Amino acid sequence: MSDTMLTDDPTWAEGWQASWDHQQEGYMPDREARLAALVDIVEAVGGAAPLVLDLACGTASISRRILHRLPGARTVAVDIDPALLAIAAGSIAGDDRVTLVRADLADPGWSAALPESGFDAVVTATALHWLPEPTLRRLYGDLRGVVRPGGVVANADEMPPADLPRLTAGLREVAARRRAAAMADGRPDWDAWWDLAAGDALLAGAVAERRRFFGASHPAQFDPPASWHVAALAAAGFAESGVAWRQGTGAIVAAVR
Ligand SMILES: C[S@@+](CC[C@H](N)C(=O)[O-])C[C@H]1O[C@@H](n2cnc3c(N)ncnc32)[C@H](O)[C@@H]1O
Repeated sequence: MSDTMLTDDPTWAEGWQASWDHQQEGYMPDREARLAALVDIVEAVGGAAPLVLDLACGTASISRRILHRLPGARTVAVDIDPALLAIAAGSIAGDDRVTLVRADLADPGWSAALPESGFDAVVTATALHWLPEPTLRRLYGDLRGVVRPGGVVANADEMPPADLPRLTAGLREVAARRRAAAMADGRPDWDAWWDLAAGDALLAGAVAERRRFFGASHPAQFDPPASWHVAALAAAGFAESGVAWRQGTGAIVAAVR
């Protein structure tokens, strides 16, 4: 996707990467630990040179962390957002270990856009709650066909523990206080971050395009507890599925084919 590389100034993309991470950490103060846990899962299944699908990759945040720890890895990073893909393209310019693909996961034919199959791991973070329930069920079925036998799918997101409702209520309050404390440094929230991106002449056109696609903010569709994901992945035909990591109301649900 070299056509989405907007400038050959490497500091431009790195500046937006840092700004994206800062904004996301406002919502998830422990985001880095969550992403590191995803890389652990990739390494556990794929070893030192895994082939990974970074699903709804945004700025390729997970791919960047995988390559930092596992320089022998290769990733295919898929998203629909032209602005975040442009930042990703600027960061990975010249690195042929990452292939960026623009596709809409809500389109049942999305996987035809993938240049490879037989992935060791499919990873995704803070993204699949954008999809409505029937679409997410269908996507989990698609992913079973995309990973190799023995390969893993790992989804990190807000997924409270359904069996601990009173504790979850308290954990939500703690999370809200920690978010407020993080945001108190004046960092841009989601909407303000997108306004900043729209003000960058290199990103303005792509931001306008993503706003036409997603609307002004973003569509939060379906936010079930971890047990729903575990059951949906089992129903999709994975041999094992369960909660692989948890911190507060956030979790990683993983499934092995
Ligand atoms: C909050 S971002 C997370 C990005 C990245 N995983 C991270 O943690 O930094 C959610 C991502 O999901 C992507 N996304 C949402 N719906 C999508 C769809 N239908 N098809 C492809 N990508 C989608 C958005 O464009 C966005 O990049």
